[in-house]
Amino acid sequence: MDKIQQLIQADLTELNQVIRQDMNSDVLLIRQISEYIISGGGKRIRPILCLLCGRIAGFSDGNLLHKMAAMIEYIHTATLLHDDVVDESALRRGRKTANAVFGNAASVLVGDFIYTRAFQMMVEANSLRLLKIMADSTNQISEGEVLQLLNIGRSDLTEREYFEVIKHKTATLFEASAQVAAIVAGANPKTEAAMANYAINLGNAFQIADDILDYMGDSTVMGKNVGDDLQEGKVTLPLIYLLKHSEHANKVKYAIENPDLADTDYIINLIKNSQALDYCSQIAKDFVVKAENSLSIFPNSSYKAAMLNLAQISIKRLN
Ligand code: IPE
Ligand code: IPE
Ligand code: MG
Ligand code: MG
Repeated sequence: MDKIQQLIQADLTELNQVIRQDMNSDVLLIRQISEYIISGGGKRIRPILCLLCGRIAGFSDGNLLHKMAAMIEYIHTATLLHDDVVDESALRRGRKTANAVFGNAASVLVGDFIYTRAFQMMVEANSLRLLKIMADSTNQISEGEVLQLLNIGRSDLTEREYFEVIKHKTATLFEASAQVAAIVAGANPKTEAAMANYAINLGNAFQIADDILDYMGDSTVMGKNVGDDLQEGKVTLPLIYLLKHSEHANKVKYAIENPDLADTDYIINLIKNSQALDYCSQIAKDFVVKAENSLSIFPNSSYKAAMLNLAQISIKRLN
């Protein structure tokens, strides 16, 4: 990631300025909560994706691109504020979640503020197509979150249904980040399609990696608690694997259906003592390969190298 950051250092500095400036409001609580979540950092993977796509498509004047990259990060930030309320999560970006500090009502409402601020920003691109992409994308994220809510506690969830959820809730915003960059850069349809395809696959790989890390990760590194998904009764790829292959599948089923009683360490051990990790990592890797292949139409450049690197980084966290 350091190498990518070096390459687009000037862009990232501008991006950070826009992210801070555009959050302005006369309402103190809005400033407090937005500052709280933004200063927690975050990997900024979506705005980085947007910036790289803009650069590879030949965008030269940065301002609008920075604005759009910040807008994407706002949408993401708003979904996190809402998500942590819905998931009743306590830790985000290495600190207490906004809902834990300021309460659910404030988190939801400031999430709405950030979300709608993003729409004010995207209007500045003066592109109906860009607006449509963002309207569709945000609508799909909501759909994915609701779909996931309906799937809580379902031990019969299929892989297909799981992939449907992660595409909606995560990959679609990655895709939009790439498309928005392509539009402001005036890229041709072929370039836009290649970048969009790269981004969807990157998003899927990223979410699968995140779902593995929810069991196998280190809370200090992730800045989130381990075992949250199980505690919520959320069925992700590692559990789908266990349900199909573990000799203790009945225990896994019981844990999913009674998340309050679920023993996270027990499930983590089942994962460790099975092929679940190899299986899930391989699927994430397959998405990474698809992402990389989508970039084949671009000539070699430092930006392309950075995008290939970003694809690897999305799963590197698993090693
Ligand atoms: C968290 O996204 C939500 C998922 C889609 C897994 P990130 O892992 O990109 O969160 P930050 O922005 O780095 O905190
Ligand atoms: C994050 O999803 C929110 C969206 C992708 C819209 P998760 O609930 O799976 O991610 P974390 O684990 O809280 O970051
Ligand atoms: Mg969550
Ligand atoms: Mg969630």
